[in-house]
Amino acid sequence: MLEMRSITPDEFVQWTRAEARAHGNRLDDDPEMLRPHFDLDRSIAVFDQGEIVGGAHSHRIEMSIPGASMVIAGVANIAVQPTHTRQGLMTRMMHHQINDLHERGEPLAALFASESIIYRRFGYGIGSLHERWTIDRQHTGFSRPYDSHGRIVFVDPVDITKELPGVFRRTTMDRPGVFQRPLHQWERDSQAPEHTHGGQGGLFYAAYYEDGGSVDGYVTYRIAGANLVVNELMAATKEANSALWRFCFDVDRTNSTEALKRPVDDPLPWMLADPRRLQRSIRDGVWVRLIDVAAALKLRRYMESGRLVLEVNDELCPWNEGRFELAGSPDGAECRVSSSSPDLVLGVSDLASAYMGAVSFSTLSRAGLVDERTPGALLRADCMFAVQYPPWTPCNF
Ligand SMILES: CC(C)(COP(=O)(O)OP(=O)(O)OC[C@H]1O[C@@H](n2cnc3c(N)ncnc32)[C@H](O)[C@@H]1OP(=O)(O)O)[C@@H](O)C(=O)NCCC(=O)NCCS
Repeated sequence: MLEMRSITPDEFVQWTRAEARAHGNRLDDDPEMLRPHFDLDRSIAVFDQGEIVGGAHSHRIEMSIPGASMVIAGVANIAVQPTHTRQGLMTRMMHHQINDLHERGEPLAALFASESIIYRRFGYGIGSLHERWTIDRQHTGFSRPYDSHGRIVFVDPVDITKELPGVFRRTTMDRPGVFQRPLHQWERDSQAPEHTHGGQGGLFYAAYYEDGGSVDGYVTYRIAGANLVVNELMAATKEANSALWRFCFDVDRTNSTEALKRPVDDPLPWMLADPRRLQRSIRDGVWVRLIDVAAALKLRRYMESGRLVLEVNDELCPWNEGRFELAGSPDGAECRVSSSSPDLVLGVSDLASAYMGAVSFSTLSRAGLVDERTPGALLRADCMFAVQYPPWTPCNF
């Protein structure tokens, strides 16, 4: 007989072990280091004869949405031990968690998916996308003459908490889908062996200083053979952006550069003289669940003022099923349950993707996922939900 409940303080270590087993990982981190960032009340564990065989957790974290920023439920640690998979344990935990978040009054949840086939069935939709790049060194020339007035300086790992969090914030302002990396995470990163030891496979930080002395960008990279791998490159100005890429491309004894998570609207492809040489592949970033459709629609801002009646299908959340009249504008929004005939009909996971600005309603419609009931409603919805910068999730929580 399986039991599902949150864990007590003395079950925390057992819970972390069960998660490590499910992921097939070593338990590298000392569970006591993780404990302060763990909210027992938000944990879920499935017990089989007293042993934890599955678990999940969520914590409150700030995420940007179009025109605003809000605290959402960051869902993590979803894990079922290989002894108990495909018996519906995750399904039970996900249903329980969605109901729990609704009772807590939390309108949005987000997670990172190990497989993109898993979470749509629970109403999650792709909330952001990113690109992985590879380029050979001989093709990294810029189309415009390059000249820099700044300097690039290595940052000692112990110093990354000083200037870099500010650069991260400035670079990701106005961008939906971003989690601001909390300071304790920067601190933990600064002490990780791969940062402090450097060397083959080690991580290096280099910052760009503008003429006047302000830090306007940084890159985190490692060298793998003759390949330079950019983990993160954040540039708050165009000068910092071109200087940091030029730096990465020109490091001696490398003959290619790889970048792991670039925004889909990154300017670099447009800066290259021979852009076809940049190999690009796209992948889903964060997945978002509208736990409370009406509350979530009220929280974001809209590019153009307008009204829409949306009919939403949501098998798991009866409170989300039905019609919602949205009056949105750049300054705010109202949303209420409605009995008017719908302009658009769609499922809750597709609405989450359009909500974040990851896809337009017109594209969803062409995919057969949105039904336009009022002529012109697709265009109206696209204009309202448009974003200047497409969502990007450069770092996980
Ligand atoms: C992914 C995981 C949590 C799934 O748990 P589970 O208890 O086996 O899932 P369920 O039995 O509730 O499966 C629900 C559905 O999802 C499908 N599914 C679950 N995991 C899947 C996977 N990795 N790939 C494809 N489909 C999967 C199941 O086939 C099932 O589909 P069905 O309803 O059509 O039969 C579990 O396999 C696990 O912990 N894996 C290792 C860690 C991991 O990947 N965690 C996820 C982090 S995001």
